[in-house]
Amino acid sequence: MDFACRDVVSIRDFGKEEILYILDHAGKAMPVARGERRSDVLEGKILATLFFEPSTRTRLSFETAMLRLGGSVIGFADASGTSVAKGETLADTIRMAESYADAIVLRHPMEGAAKLAADFSTKPVINAGDGAGQHPTQTLLDLFTIKMEKGEIADNNIVLVGDLKYGRTVHSLTYALSLFGANITCVAPPTLQMPSEIVSHLKQMGGRFNQSESLESVIPGADVLYVTRIQKERFPDPEEYRKVENAYRIDNALLANAKRNLVVMHPLPRVNEIAPEVDLGPYARYFRQAFYGVPIRMAILSLILGKGEI
Ligand code: CP
Repeated sequence: MDFACRDVVSIRDFGKEEILYILDHAGKAMPVARGERRSDVLEGKILATLFFEPSTRTRLSFETAMLRLGGSVIGFADASGTSVAKGETLADTIRMAESYADAIVLRHPMEGAAKLAADFSTKPVINAGDGAGQHPTQTLLDLFTIKMEKGEIADNNIVLVGDLKYGRTVHSLTYALSLFGANITCVAPPTLQMPSEIVSHLKQMGGRFNQSESLESVIPGADVLYVTRIQKERFPDPEEYRKVENAYRIDNALLANAKRNLVVMHPLPRVNEIAPEVDLGPYARYFRQAFYGVPIRMAILSLILGKGEI
């Protein structure tokens, strides 16, 4: 399997066997991700992290992954301190980054920005989130979390709840789950349901799919509850956001009828959709899920920039 110099723009860039290969590779990276073993497989390589939108986990876990593998990082967390503020185009910013670094990680508010960057760059571009589009490395770490915490991805009943219209993590994840034959139930207010083109794709792939507005009714059958934040920043009308901002809240009372081995995930950040009391209970996996971003991003960086060893 050859990943050298490949862009990571969409989860659809990968087939099922390639995804399983990356997850396997991430499993082997765990001791290095935890700092229990040293690696210098990316020594001399430079990663540019260009974040035009806020991020905690994606940026810091990419940087941690690169540093744990002996590489170096340049970049910015706020474009207002760069020549973008003087009117520089994304294409020119990418041309500069590719001349300084060996790979580029890009987060941008415009859907399609990562594809555009990949078209302008001879170096690999990794999409760290493009508007309401895709977030493929989040999907890989979500799949890794399900595999680590449930043993298998296939045959789980996976409930996606919250903002399924603007939440890019659930868009990428739904595509990927369709490859693995998981049962997907989408729970969202009518205005925030999963886009129809993604539902159509899922059905074409033979995916088992349901929609509901009632979270209570689907909790007893869930193996994985994947909670998302209502994406306030993507609503054109603030009044529409106010109507749905508190549509769902996960708390211990709601989880009273859950399976004993339910896993609750969230890409984070959360606002108030998961009560803090759930953090202390048996179901919460979202902080561990965020840590899994390090081995997954180590796997991706080592495969596209190195010889694949960690
Ligand atoms: N999950 C995720 O993308 O988090 P950040 O926005 O903090 O990077």
